[in-house]
Parts: sequence; structure tokens; C-alpha cells
Amino acid sequence: MDWFLCSQSKKSSAPFTLILILLCCCSSPSLVFTFANASSSPAFNLTTISFDEGYSHLFGDGNLIRSPDGKNVRLLLNRFSGSGFVSSKLYNHGFFSAMIKLPSDHTAGLCVAFYTSNGDVFPKTHDELDFEFLGNVAGKPWRFQTNFYGNGSTARGREERYQLWFDPTKQFHRYSILWTSNNIIFYVDEVPIREVVRSTAMGGDFPSKPMSLYTTIWDASNWATSGGKAKVNYKYAPFTSEFKDFVLEGCPVDPIEQVPSSNCQDTDSRLAEKGLSVITPAGRRAMRRFRERYIYYSYCYDTIRYPVPLPECVLVPSERQRFKDTGRLKFGGSHKSHRHRSRRQPGASNSEDPDM
Ligand SMILES: *[C@@H]1O[C@H](CO)[C@@H](O)[C@H](O)[C@H]1NC(C)=O
Ligand SMILES: *[C@@H]1O[C@H](CO)[C@@H](O)[C@H](O)[C@H]1NC(C)=O
Ligand SMILES: *[C@@H]1O[C@H](CO)[C@@H](O)[C@H](O)[C@H]1NC(C)=O
Repeated sequence: MDWFLCSQSKKSSAPFTLILILLCCCSSPSLVFTFANASSSPAFNLTTISFDEGYSHLFGDGNLIRSPDGKNVRLLLNRFSGSGFVSSKLYNHGFFSAMIKLPSDHTAGLCVAFYTSNGDVFPKTHDELDFEFLGNVAGKPWRFQTNFYGNGSTARGREERYQLWFDPTKQFHRYSILWTSNNIIFYVDEVPIREVVRSTAMGGDFPSKPMSLYTTIWDASNWATSGGKAKVNYKYAPFTSEFKDFVLEGCPVDPIEQVPSSNCQDTDSRLAEKGLSVITPAGRRAMRRFRERYIYYSYCYDTIRYPVPLPECVLVPSERQRFKDTGRLKFGGSHKSHRHRSRRQPGASNSEDPDM
């Protein structure tokens, strides 16, 4: 979901992939265990809503399918269209969350996006917070990335890319975006996987205007898998992603006037009281473990793209180690050239997959 596409071909990533496979195979069982423990202490206390209470259909006629009780929604991609939905309101800060099950098997070229944006209201100075799930060839796991933009900072992508520690096609898992005036946190289940703390040096790059929540499935054949080499194969269509247990915890704003209702000042403290914007010591340990093992690209360590790291970057030696061990210059190289392109649909994206 940015307006740039990095399209350079990449060099062979075989040695890297091998190392990654070894890492994952050797460390997964114990990780699942420790993640569960570390994150189980401060369980989220969430109020879930049905689809109709918070969202409306955005695009893809016939490709959005609601369960009879309106609690679950399926988004389909077929050869004619993807599909998507959007929150009926804009929110000034909040906690945006859903249980998601991704399509299984032949998912190369697919992108399932769960993100906040105000690009429709502020086309030149939009803000955005992204989860983007990237399909893969049969037998290889889904990966995902997080990213954000503030006030139209589309020239400065802030992508991080990761593996998951579970198969996201087998069960529903909760994915959440927390946004206050002070910080941004991306969660997978109850594990915080990325925090961005606002600093004055970031200026307008920290999202500051009300945003809607978008959820889409679409054909990202030109970038999502192996830098665009593996395309969506419609022989296996339709591709179906499922969503339920929605949470929209924030300050709703009138979409036309964009005047926050009076309780907006309370939003940040409410999110803090619920423990959603404050990471506990156990949460920090889980985040560190996740990042040491599952992150495989970070703009903060990409010194070719950003010789001086962007102001919010906190360089952690144990994270950086991964990039060093696996020849991180390879990633840097794949992000050198940015080509402008037009936005093709809500949730349009992105940069090249730097590996796998
Ligand atoms: C994790 O939690 C289980 C059950 O609550 C407990 O038996 C186990 O000792 C814990 N493991 C660690 C590493 O804390
Ligand atoms: C969960 O949240 C609800 C409403 O926000 C509150 O009434 C309840 O006390 C909370 N439960 C716990 C265990 O904190
Ligand atoms: C956002 O960008 C606009 C246009 O470039 C500028 O006028 C405004 O001051 C910026 N706002 C912030 C908060 O940086």
C-alpha cells in the first residue's frame, strides 16, 4: 500500500533461504511455547463487533460474503476481481483488530491487506498504517510486512518484513494495529511485534489525521512473491480469506466534517488503561524474541536505502545480527530503485520481496 514499486531483480537468495529454514526448523517449537507464556499474562480485554456494526462493502461485487449472523466475512479474489471492506467511520487514534484466516495452498501473488488510511480524504497528505500478508508458492509459508506513512511521506517507506511462527491458514489469529498520539504498535495475537515511538524529529511522518480501517484481498502478482516472479494462478481461484471478531476501539470522527467528538481526549488514556498502548516487560521480552528470529527485512538496517537511519529507528544489535549473518547488502540492493506508479485500488502496494 504505498505508491512505489521496487522492481529490480534480485540476486540468488539460496544460501539465505537455507539459513532461514534451519533457523525456523530448529527454533519454532520452543518459540511457540515461550511466546504463549510471555504474552498470556496481559490478555487483551476486547469488545468485538459484527461486520454490520462497523463496516461496509468497499469493492468486488459478489466477492464479499457475510455469514448469516453477520459476524464472519469472507473476501474472495477470482479472475474478475478482488474485494474489500472499510470501516463506516474514521477514527482519531484507536485499536483496530480482527481475527484473520488466510487462504491456503497456491497463494503466490496474493496480498491480503489490513490497514488504516485516509488517502480518500487527503490524497496528497495521507496517513497510513499497514499489515500486508504476502502469499507464496505451494509449500512455502506466508510472510507479512508492516509499514506506515504520515502526511504523504510516500518517498520514505518504512517496511519491515517477517515470517510467522505459525501457519496462518490453519486457524484464525488476531492481528491488531494500535495508534495513539504517542506510539504505534503492531500485534500478532497478543505479541507486540513492532513499536514506533513518536519523536519530534519525525515531524509529520507520524500519522496524525483520522483514518478508516480497510481490509482487502487483491492480485499483487507484480511484487508480492519473489519480486513478482510467481504470479497468481487462477486455476486455484477463488482465493478466500476469512475475518471475524472485529474490534474498532477508538474515537470516531465525522467523515465529512472531521471534527472529533468531545471524548477524543480520553481515547489515549482509555487505550492505556486497557493495556493496549503500554507494553509490559513480558511483552517486551516476547517482542525481542520475535524480532531476533522472524524479522527478515528492516528499513532501519538498510544502509544503502537510508545511509542515515530514519529518526524513529532503534538499532538493536541482536536484531541486526540477522542481517549481517545473511548478507544484508543483498536486501539493500533490492531497494535501490523506486519507480513511481499510480494507485490501482484501495490497498495498492509496494516494494519488492527481498527474498524467498
Ligand atoms: C509456560 O506456561 C506453562 C503453563 O502455564 C508452565 O507450565 C510453564 O512452566 C511455562 N514455561 C515457561 C518457560 O515459563
Ligand atoms: C473489560 O472491559 C470492560 C469494558 O471496557 C470492563 O467493564 C471490564 O471490567 C474489563 N474486564 C477486565 C477483566 O479488566
Ligand atoms: C503536512 O504537509 C502539508 C503539505 O506539505 C504541510 O503544509 C503541513 O504543514 C504538514 N503537516 C505536518 C504536521 O507536518
